[in-house]
Amino acid sequence: MPQLIENINEMQDLAGRERQDAKTIGVVPTMGFLHEGHLKLIREARRLSDTVITTVFVNPAQFGPAEDFDRYPRNLPRDIDLAGSAGTDIVFAPDAASIYPPGYCTYVDVTQLDSVLEGKSRPGHFRGVATVVTKLFNITKPHLAVFGQKDAQQVVVIKTLVRDLNLDVELVIVPTVREKDGLAMSSRNAYLTAEQRREASALYRSLQHADRRIREGERQATRIIGEMTDIISGQSSGVIDYISVADGATLEELPALNGHSEILVSLAVRFGNTRLIDNIHVSL
Ligand code: PAF
Repeated sequence: MPQLIENINEMQDLAGRERQDAKTIGVVPTMGFLHEGHLKLIREARRLSDTVITTVFVNPAQFGPAEDFDRYPRNLPRDIDLAGSAGTDIVFAPDAASIYPPGYCTYVDVTQLDSVLEGKSRPGHFRGVATVVTKLFNITKPHLAVFGQKDAQQVVVIKTLVRDLNLDVELVIVPTVREKDGLAMSSRNAYLTAEQRREASALYRSLQHADRRIREGERQATRIIGEMTDIISGQSSGVIDYISVADGATLEELPALNGHSEILVSLAVRFGNTRLIDNIHVSL
């Protein structure tokens, strides 16, 4: 059973002692309601570090006023069990009042990258992510931090944050874990009705189609996006928020793919009130 720490000072003291004892610390930041995708991140941290800290914190700063902060699924006892089974030594689960106490006024903006794709649909989201990740790094003092490729833009934002602020932490990125029918694992899948869950497999089929078309030589983004739209709209009731073909490093939208070596095809689709995201990288 992992140790549960809820207090910031206690976490910082313990992390400091681990470092003094020459232990490498790996952190896996999560918002809890853990699934197999998170467990894969924890196992990777276990493989690469002496002490594994899994953080469980539903970060209010990364939710918009009309978003699902209140109904976001939470189950700390279950998370502690699951995190332990995957090799976590410490679960750090602070409350919002200690992370953002009264008078809190410091935020981290990763400019430009935070206002495209997900950032365009969710203003302020990446400010919340960059701020809490910076705080979690300062509290858990990790040598390495493990994130999932499922949140592709988050990965680019955090890599940029680490580079620009010279944070002394190595980032380890783990491929997306998928259900048997290809749906990317996500805590938000729990919101889907049985019908929506079945239809949601169209998202990955559309991404696989894009992958195939790009590898066959298609270079016009509008054609790729049009064909993906046909798959999603034809095979599901999902309402497309965006489908994007962008440069994988800069997130710049690409009308034509020529001259780019890392392509990020990403999408966000709504099923009722549930917004799902997914992506694939294609290397040319
Ligand atoms: O990916 C997530 O679950 C969250 O965005 C993160 C990185 C834990 C920050 O709250």
